[in-house]
Amino acid sequence: MIRMFHVFKTFPNKIHALWDINLHVKKGEFVFLVGPTGAGKTTLLKLVYRGILPSKGQVIVDGVNLSRLKLSLVPYLRREIGIVFQDFKLLYDRNVFENVAFSLRVVGTKNIIIKQKVNEVLDIIGLYEKKNTYPHLLSGGEQQKLCIARAVVSRPLILLTDEPTGNLDPETSWEIMKLLFKINVWGTTVIVASHDKLMVDKAQKRVIRLVQGEVVSDARKGIYAKQ
Ligand SMILES: Nc1ncnc2c1ncn2[C@@H]1O[C@H](COP(=O)(O)OP(=O)(O)O)[C@@H](O)[C@H]1O
Ligand SMILES: [Mg+2]
Repeated sequence: MIRMFHVFKTFPNKIHALWDINLHVKKGEFVFLVGPTGAGKTTLLKLVYRGILPSKGQVIVDGVNLSRLKLSLVPYLRREIGIVFQDFKLLYDRNVFENVAFSLRVVGTKNIIIKQKVNEVLDIIGLYEKKNTYPHLLSGGEQQKLCIARAVVSRPLILLTDEPTGNLDPETSWEIMKLLFKINVWGTTVIVASHDKLMVDKAQKRVIRLVQGEVVSDARKGIYAKQ
């Protein structure tokens, strides 16, 4: 589903954010991307949805080399990728239902289909009872659930989440993790960038560890590894 061949990313300020990354994430896998702040986790996720292009090397998503993907086709790629990033804000002037419905409305989905899809995902995520509530009245955990609902309403092939349990207490964090496992069971490939050691160790999933832009380990049922 996602392949990287000798991927380098150097920013204009000469910072080498990623250095010779080679990896393969298969369809339906659940992968943690761990490592200290500045290791390159967010940069790697951005490459997958073509938020940025690599300086060198190839990023292949669902068989497509993203460096060769025409700009006009980028929106189609993005439709297959759900994203939960801290800087993708909720719409605070719209209720829970409308926050989830938004991306479907943008692409002209019929109202009846929107209703069906949004209600279904809210039910799965556990926010159905709150569908008329506005985001500022939700708890931190509920807001994060809403971000996840919004990202998966069109059943993407891939879900990318950047520090999804940041700022949440361990119990709420585990609830969020369980939700991500559930989405993964649908067949969605899930990548979670995290430095939440507790969650990563508890989850017993594949762990790819980055340090200073390089993959230093990649283990099935991995642990966060020593600092
Ligand atoms: N747009 C950018 N311009 C310049 N440097 C950047 C940019 N984005 C990230 N970096 C740098 O690249 C490195 C990796 O950053 P990042 O991918 O955000 O790490 P992480 O998510 O693991 O904390 C850091 O040194 C960061 O300062
Ligand atoms: Mg980051």
